Amino acid sequence: MISEEKLVVLSMPKAPKILTDPPGPESKKILKRQADNESSVVSYSKGMPMAIARGKGATIEDADGNIYIDMFGGAGVMAVGHGHPEVLEAAHKQIDIVTHTLDIPSETREDLVDVLKELLPKELTRIFFGGPTGSDAVEQAIKLAKWNTGRNGIIAFDGAYHGMTGGSLALTTDSGHRDGIGQLIPDVHFVPYAYEYRNPFGCPDDETDLYAAKWLDRVLSDSHSGISKPAAVIIEAIQGEGGSIPPNPRFLKNIREITTKHDVLLICDEIQCGLGRTGKMFGFEHSEIVPDIVTLSKALGGVGFPISAIAYKEKLNTWPPGKTIGTFRGNMVAFAAGTAALRYMVREDIPGHAAELGKKVLDRLKDCEANSSIVGEARGIGLMLGIEMVKDKKTREPAPEYAKKVRSLAHRKGVMIEVGGHYNNVARLLPPLVITEELAMKGTEIICEVIAEIEQEAKGE
Ligand SMILES: Cc1ncc(COP(=O)(O)O)c(C=O)c1O
Repeated sequence: MISEEKLVVLSMPKAPKILTDPPGPESKKILKRQADNESSVVSYSKGMPMAIARGKGATIEDADGNIYIDMFGGAGVMAVGHGHPEVLEAAHKQIDIVTHTLDIPSETREDLVDVLKELLPKELTRIFFGGPTGSDAVEQAIKLAKWNTGRNGIIAFDGAYHGMTGGSLALTTDSGHRDGIGQLIPDVHFVPYAYEYRNPFGCPDDETDLYAAKWLDRVLSDSHSGISKPAAVIIEAIQGEGGSIPPNPRFLKNIREITTKHDVLLICDEIQCGLGRTGKMFGFEHSEIVPDIVTLSKALGGVGFPISAIAYKEKLNTWPPGKTIGTFRGNMVAFAAGTAALRYMVREDIPGHAAELGKKVLDRLKDCEANSSIVGEARGIGLMLGIEMVKDKKTREPAPEYAKKVRSLAHRKGVMIEVGGHYNNVARLLPPLVITEELAMKGTEIICEVIAEIEQEAKGE
C-alpha cells in the first residue's frame, strides 16, 4: 500500500489555512460575477461560498489564499486528487496530439478499454463510451437493457441517484430534482433499499436487507404487484447521494440471485462507488457478484475530464452500428488521463489505502456519534462516508438544517464536504483517495468539533 511520504507531496502543505473568513474579498468579487450572470440553479457555491484558485491533491486554495482540506473531491470525481502529476503528464502529452475522435479507434482509446477490461469481471466483455456524463452512461445502460429484452420497465431503489437527464432523472428519487417538471419516462418503479438506520419493515435492523430483497422478489413474482416484468433492476452497490449507505453485502448478492431467477437484467451504477472509492475497485465486488451492465464515470476521466462508459456482457452486444450515438464519445484527453489514473491506482493499491484510512476515519466518526445527541449514525465504507444528523437520537427525526450547518461551519474552518441523504440530513465525505492520513484525520477532527458546536448551540449553552 502507498506510504504517507508518497502521498504528502501530492497535496499542499499546511492545510487547512484560513487567512480570511470565507468568502474573502476576492472570492466575493467572483461570486458576484457568477450571481449576476449565471443561472439561479447554481448550488455548490451557495453551500460553500468561495471562488477556487487552484487544487492540489486533497487540498484546494481559494481566491483569497485560504487553503481547504478537500473532503468533497468534486462530488467523488477526484479519486487521484487535483492535478495528479502522472495523470497531468499523460493529459498534456495527449492534448498536443489529438483531442476529439468520435468513436474512431486509437491506441489511446484502446489502452483505456484494455485497463478497464483488466479490472472488470471477465464476463463483462464489452465497453461502450456513450457520452461525457454519468447520466449519459445511465441512459445508455437502460437503452441497452430495453433493446435486449424488448421490455420497458425499470426498477430502482428509494434513495437512488442516477442522474439529471430524462431517463436517469426518472430513476432518481429526490423530489427536489423531480417535482414541478412534469412527466418523466414511464414504467419506472421503486422498491426499498437496505437502509438499516431507517428500516421500514419493523424487523430487526440487521435483517433490513433480507426484507428489502424479499420485497423485490415479491414484486417480480406476484402477478398482482402491478408491475410488469421489467427490462432491468438498477442499483448502487453502496448508495451515494442517498446518504453513503453501505448495505450488508448479502443484499446485492440476493438482488443478483433474484434478478437472475426472474430473467431481469441487473445494472450496477458504479459512477460514485466505483473505481476504488469503497476499498475495492468496484462496489459490487464486496458482494462477489457480476452485474449484467455496469455504469462508470466521475473518477474515470482521471482528474475531472468528462467521460463515461458502460461495460456489459457479450450476450447483450446486439445493437447494430449507430443504434445509439453522440458527439462526445471520443475525448482523447480523458482517455489518456483515465488510463494513467487507473494504472497509478492499481500500482499503488489506492483502493487498499482507501479501505484502511476509511476505517480510521469511521472509527473517529463513530466516537463522535457515541458522544453526540445529534449524530444518529456515522457510517460508510472506504472513503465514502456519511454522518446522519438528527434532532434527537431517540426519535431519529432528520435534521437537514444541522447537516447544512456542518457543511458551512466546516467550510469556514477549512474543510469541504457535501450534504445528501434521503432527508438531506447526511454530511457526506468523499475525499480524494490519495488524501494523507494526517489531512484526513485533521479534517475529521474539525468536522467533529463543528458537530459539538452545533449541539451546544442547539441546547442553548
Ligand atoms: C450513482 C450516480 N449515478 C449517476 C450520477 C450522474 O452522474 P453525472 O452527474 O455525471 O451525470 C451520479 C452523480 O452524482 C451518481 O452519483
